[in-house]
Amino acid sequence: MARRVQTPVVVGGVTMAAGDRVLLSFGAAGRDPAYFAQPQTVDLQRDPQPNLAFGTGVHRCIGEALARLVRRVGYEVLLERLPHFTVDPQFVPAYATGSTRHMTHLPLRFAPTPFAAGRA
Ligand code: HEM
Repeated sequence: MARRVQTPVVVGGVTMAAGDRVLLSFGAAGRDPAYFAQPQTVDLQRDPQPNLAFGTGVHRCIGEALARLVRRVGYEVLLERLPHFTVDPQFVPAYATGSTRHMTHLPLRFAPTPFAAGRA
């Protein structure tokens, strides 16, 4: 996320002048060892769970509720259609980084089942 500095400020020992352009890595914030005890651990039970996936402050994502709903429905449909799958333990994930950082692919193993008519 890009921002332009409005007033001189020092953040993390770095001095920024008004007009400077800053590129913020929201993803890196989620792995900040100054904030999280185990920043490299995927911990879905972490409480609180303060990630910046949808930003923060006045520009926080206005589509967050829709995005979360689409995600939930997507997982529900996936798990309904594919309740049993595994990931090859030898699989080595690769990641791409842009405005988000994401796994490029995740091959699943599952037994094919007959298609249920009427399903989406
Ligand atoms: C997984 C899906 C999504 C992610 C990860 C995401 C992430 C973000 C983030 C991080 C920001 C903050 C940008 C900033 O601080 O400069 C943002 C802003 C925004 N998002 Fe999303 N977003 C998602 C889906 C959506 C959807 C579905 C919509 C609309 C239907 C949407 C509309 C917006 C808008 C309009 C803003 C700008 C808000 C503002 O500047 O006041 N987003 N989003």
